Amino acid sequence: MSRQSGEVILDLKNVSLSFGGVKALTDISFDVREHEIRAIIGPNGAGKSSMLNVINGVYRPQEGEIILRGQHFSRMNPYKAARAGISRTFQNIALFKGMNVIDNLMTGRNLKIRSNLIQQAFWWGAGAARGTSAPCQG
Ligand SMILES: Nc1ncnc2c1ncn2[C@@H]1O[C@H](COP(=O)(O)OP(=O)(O)OP(=O)(O)O)[C@@H](O)[C@H]1O
Ligand SMILES: [Mg+2]
Repeated sequence: MSRQSGEVILDLKNVSLSFGGVKALTDISFDVREHEIRAIIGPNGAGKSSMLNVINGVYRPQEGEIILRGQHFSRMNPYKAARAGISRTFQNIALFKGMNVIDNLMTGRNLKIRSNLIQQAFWWGAGAARGTSAPCQG
């Protein structure tokens, strides 16, 4: 299939990121089109995770911009990225201790949950559908 078939959804232009003297990303540009699956490959320390962290707003690049569905972001925020439909998994699994499996999974649905704090605290109304079991002990 031709790369030119879908419209560009995500466009990164001239992104550079450094941590002090360490240049993690230097002038990186690429785009992702509709229905396209793209991969980032490279040796340890090449900057793959840093690239994903820039797309998700966890890291803020010193240079460059991210264009998502035509919207320009020089600084992406994690909540803006999530609201815009960007999701990700992490290289190192970090679970919330003291929360059971379902509640850990439900944290990934946070944006979709329509109940408020009171409803969730009392498992009432929309909050009752939030989980099915009590938090695990130990
Ligand atoms: N938070 C940070 N603070 C300082 N340096 C960092 C930070 N995150 C990444 N780096 C540095 O940026 C460079 C790129 O790291 P990154 O983790 O993005 O590489 P990677 O391609 O994901 O590697 P791996 O294959 O080991 O996961 C490395 O030199 C790393 O030490
Ligand atoms: Mg990595």
